[in-house]
Amino acid sequence: MRRKLLLGNWKMNKLNSEAKEFALASVPFAKLAKENNIDIGVAPTYLSLATVKEFASKDMIVAAQNVHFKESGAYTGEVSVPMLKELNIDWVLIGHSERRTYDNETNEKCHAKIEALLNNNMVPVYCVGETLAEFEAGRTKEVVGGQVREGLAGFAPEQVKDLVVAYEPVWSIGTGKNASSQIAQDICSFIREELRAMFGNVADEIRILYGGSVKPVNVKEYLSCPDVDGALVGGASLKIDSFEELLKNIL
Ligand code: 13P
Repeated sequence: MRRKLLLGNWKMNKLNSEAKEFALASVPFAKLAKENNIDIGVAPTYLSLATVKEFASKDMIVAAQNVHFKESGAYTGEVSVPMLKELNIDWVLIGHSERRTYDNETNEKCHAKIEALLNNNMVPVYCVGETLAEFEAGRTKEVVGGQVREGLAGFAPEQVKDLVVAYEPVWSIGTGKNASSQIAQDICSFIREELRAMFGNVADEIRILYGGSVKPVNVKEYLSCPDVDGALVGGASLKIDSFEELLKNIL
């Protein structure tokens, strides 16, 4: 049985002081989530990871938004796995479409980062999704299938059982244009079958999230799809009231 997972991606938002305020205010919701067997978490900027870790409930997942695949070295501006581990950060978003678009994050780079995380018993949240042009050309499965196969090639089934995959159609991110729950289910089910072809029945343990304009009003509909195990939420995860509503609407 896969536990539901609600994860907020704060992107480049929130001052450290605002992150602290949110972390403190989120304590009761982490408790509520736990009581209802739901995992919740947020992915703040690097600068606020330690703050959120300190002031949020220990039941709140705190994820980084990126990591470098090397342990240390001459990589200006980067942060490594041991640096995250020292802060007890075990979860990392990999391959978000904004990083694929603006930072040349390829499937190959994602693979190297996922490998570094899995070797350290950390949890990658591997983001995949097609652009509007690819969607309109009917290429969604080809693109998403390629991202899954290339990003996760060669790992052993026992390594990937805690991995999370997030399907985020690029055309629905921050646009208010949701993919219908039917599209979300179809593609998440397709991703699970790709995972099954690669890793066998471990595919039934891997959580697959939908992301893209998820709001309190539509979160329940997505989570009622059999292959959608949770949501990766941008804008609607930023305000504590809206984060609370997202959670309460899936209890
Ligand atoms: P929005 O929820 O703001 O559309 O962002 C989705 C997203 O990119 C989460 O990673």
